[in-house]
Amino acid sequence: MSELTLETSIENFTKRFATSAELSRTGREVIPGGYSRNSFNFGPHAVYVEGGDGAYITTVEGHRLLDLNNNFTVNVLGHNHPSVLGALRKSIETGISFGNPVTLETELARILVDRIPSVEKVQFSCSASESCLSAVRVARGYTGKTKIAKFEGGYHGFTDPLQISVHPDPEQDCGPDAAPRSMPDSAGIPGEDRDNVIVLTQNDREGTEAILRAHAHQIACVILELESASGGFVTLDRDFVESLRELTTELGIVLIFDETVTLRASYHGMQSDYGVTPDMTVMGKMIGGGLPLGAIGGSSEVMDVLETGAVSISGTHHGHKIAVSAGIALMEEMTEETFARLNSMAERVISELNDWSEARNSPFAVYGSMSHLAYGYMLEPGLKVGTHRDYWRNVDGTRTQICSLELANRGYFPVARGDFSLSLPMTDDDIGGYIETVKEIVMDIER
Ligand SMILES: Cc1ncc(COP(=O)(O)O)c(C=O)c1O
Repeated sequence: MSELTLETSIENFTKRFATSAELSRTGREVIPGGYSRNSFNFGPHAVYVEGGDGAYITTVEGHRLLDLNNNFTVNVLGHNHPSVLGALRKSIETGISFGNPVTLETELARILVDRIPSVEKVQFSCSASESCLSAVRVARGYTGKTKIAKFEGGYHGFTDPLQISVHPDPEQDCGPDAAPRSMPDSAGIPGEDRDNVIVLTQNDREGTEAILRAHAHQIACVILELESASGGFVTLDRDFVESLRELTTELGIVLIFDETVTLRASYHGMQSDYGVTPDMTVMGKMIGGGLPLGAIGGSSEVMDVLETGAVSISGTHHGHKIAVSAGIALMEEMTEETFARLNSMAERVISELNDWSEARNSPFAVYGSMSHLAYGYMLEPGLKVGTHRDYWRNVDGTRTQICSLELANRGYFPVARGDFSLSLPMTDDDIGGYIETVKEIVMDIER
């Protein structure tokens, strides 16, 4: 085989997915960029699907790919799970949309309350972006304070107050490592929103403490992902999270865990693996069974501002009947056993690929701790990525992109930036095939 370069991988990709290339082009005639989510971008263009079944998707070209994207972690049960389809059919037959509550909403709320240790009350929305926004409003209403503290590299949806310092441009002045500047990720975000965000550094105990103490009288909440993906895959250390819990309690700051993705880590959420109880939790992605649904949950004390009406949040489609019915069906499938199966598949991928890579002293590595993971090429082997900046300073973007393109070329569909998530219909052979294909790609790159 000739040398594998980004150019050859892109060339093979556009040939293999030629219809998608054309559809992306015609899409641009009516939609800026060609489609409504720029996260669909996969190198030169998106890959359009015809449909999905179990662990696989079929593209418009007729290629069957193992779906490692799973709508950015949503599809833990893969596609067309019979329980979810059954619940959807049943729910649709009794009406789609009402200006009245349905008991299904209470049922899903009860499932979440029973499972997630910190959640005593729940309020639904249509997406995690909305629910992150709701969580911040509740925290502001509860504390009477305005500022939001978040971590550089953390993603909490696309809204103005929160799409700040997710992917700050390293070419710009992003401030010192221990005290990053607040940088909007998009034009159109008002300066007030930027100024209301205080940016922290992941796993930096001293820097975080100094900043929170200095601004405690203004900070309503700290919002974080225990394991973040958007700005580089970073897992927070347990003692760091424990110290943050103590500090925020002492300073009267609402601690919010954004478990939109990490809920797939365990039956009780990733917070139970850390043994740390936040004041509020944001949920999304899988809880809607593939339909749009977000939720906030929290202690009765904090959520009481919604009960009294001091904080008002209400949306036409919040807690949508069809979405909650799919969510119930999905959550009922997610037992202790099915979480264990997902995690054991993840452990196999992590250990087999990292041991293999380490043995050949390759800078390729798999990051993460659960069924949502990321591969990345770093500049040197064995690098620990403890902060967003560790990632941006060390990632070999070109080689990581070649891995993604080649996976698609060879029958696997990850997220373009390198993360991938597992689903329950995947078999041991599927996982084994994926591991072997990644090894072949790495060997081709390092040839
Ligand atoms: C941790 C986290 N929070 C919030 C969101 C926003 O979710 P949504 O796109 O469903 O609004 C995402 C989406 O990727 C996420 O990963």
